[in-house]
Amino acid sequence: MHTGMESPRGVWWKPAHKAEKMWVLIAFAWCMVLFAMMPLWHLKGAQNPSGIRYRVDPSAYARRTNEFIRQYKVGEDGGFAVVEPPPGADVYLLGRMWAWEPVLKLHKGVAYTLHLSSLDVNHGFNLSPVNLNFQVVPGYDYGLRIVPTEAGDFRIVCNEFCGIQHHVMVGRIIVVDDSAGAAPTGGAQ
Ligand code: CUA
Repeated sequence: MHTGMESPRGVWWKPAHKAEKMWVLIAFAWCMVLFAMMPLWHLKGAQNPSGIRYRVDPSAYARRTNEFIRQYKVGEDGGFAVVEPPPGADVYLLGRMWAWEPVLKLHKGVAYTLHLSSLDVNHGFNLSPVNLNFQVVPGYDYGLRIVPTEAGDFRIVCNEFCGIQHHVMVGRIIVVDDSAGAAPTGGAQ
């Protein structure tokens, strides 16, 4: 009868072959290289956003956003305010279950500081079809220095699961090109 006191049959407890040890060593060394790349890439990579971060109370951020909307509102779109801030302005975008507020109207080639924060849970800011991605976290105001380089009608798609209506959480950023003629800054359009 076989009991736990006897060694089982097999060869698996024999020392690993030299080649196997070598591969484990190579894999471990490569893990260390990739691990080191994380901080190095952060310091060197051109992909890092020029962000400024503050801690903020979510309700205070919502108040600030409402104030921003009140100040620069130029119209409405599907129940949401369309806001056109002046050049260089601090632009506030609020993510909440399940909308982005307000609709932003920006100008090509003009610098803004785009603030992102959430009222409730984590949301994901994905600008389509540009494929820019940022985490939108409650309690943190993430200010990005941006200059829109392309005119168009962009969608902000939430790419962080945030509940039952996550899939309908779509916002809008309109970028107008002043050099293309027609409406000057502040014009009703
Ligand atoms: Cu917000 Cu998903």
